[in-house]
Amino acid sequence: MTKTRVLTGITTTGTPHLGNYVGAIKPAIAASQDPSVQSYYFLADLHALIKCQDPRRVQESRLEIAATWLALGLDTDNAIFYRQSDVPEITELTWMLSCVCAKGLMNRAHAYKAAVAENEAAGNQDPDKGITMGLFGYPVLMAADILMFNAHKVPVGRDQIQHIEMARDIAARFNHLFKGDYFSLPEAVVDDRVAVLNGLDGRKMSKSYNNTIPLFVSEKKLLKLVRKIKTNSLEPGEPKDPDGCTLFQIYSAFATAEESAAMRREYENGIGWGEAKNRVFEYLNEQLREPRERYQALMEDPGHIEQVLLKGAERARGEAVPFLDRLRQAVGLGRFV
Ligand code: TRP
Repeated sequence: MTKTRVLTGITTTGTPHLGNYVGAIKPAIAASQDPSVQSYYFLADLHALIKCQDPRRVQESRLEIAATWLALGLDTDNAIFYRQSDVPEITELTWMLSCVCAKGLMNRAHAYKAAVAENEAAGNQDPDKGITMGLFGYPVLMAADILMFNAHKVPVGRDQIQHIEMARDIAARFNHLFKGDYFSLPEAVVDDRVAVLNGLDGRKMSKSYNNTIPLFVSEKKLLKLVRKIKTNSLEPGEPKDPDGCTLFQIYSAFATAEESAAMRREYENGIGWGEAKNRVFEYLNEQLREPRERYQALMEDPGHIEQVLLKGAERARGEAVPFLDRLRQAVGLGRFV
């Protein structure tokens, strides 16, 4: 049986928060347990360099994200878990793909277009002011990530769909030019059922809004943050609407259907905000306690994480090295004898 190859990357610029867990990490770990799937999960640390030139932050984020996935139970005998930067074949493939990718295609990439629009709005003479080749070519590196392992399915957020389409374009162009089925065409998988969690201020939970609840903060900090979640001014005793309420939304993302229904009734019966926040804190804290302990132990043992990631890279390279050899031959860079 050939397994479906599912691949996704995590850009290592931030500290994982509840929104990342619910929207990406939890479904990815669950998917990796399916025996008909081979999953490839990697730290997109080369992508991190595009957005972040603070080496300490990049290094710290790589460790935190790796520890988070391991603490939450990613089975690395099963999933192939690696750092992008440990697989140099990916950067080599990026170059090969760059040489068949139309510049015009990259001109249309959302992230690049947004940066240009910002320059224009600011009245800058040069519309490309401050834009690096890294940002411009970002989708080519991402295509290489995906095509290196001939991934069939790529679970991503909506904002990334365009990049998967670009990977398909680039793959098809390469196949056509070099007359072979080198690459299979990847498909984006966007799961509308997974919740997009709101943050402290009620907007989407995101590092860029500075409204996140990090997954593994201390108990004390967690309580403080839950108390900061924005609610309205209804008094205890007044019925409250759970729909559209961030506190309820966060609770339901973790609770079972029955527990959510029970909380819904509490809202209707007029539970006070203070009381509701205490309950949500207690619940989250209970769920996060064990993984938090594992996370802390892992963070104190970076040597172990390093070993796990190197083993993942070795498995990844077991596929990447022979495949790249074939691609080198395809483009005329094979050995003479
Ligand atoms: N660009 C993706 C993001 O910001 C991360 C990423 C890098 C990725 N390479 C990938 C996702 C390959 C899927 C496949 O979310």
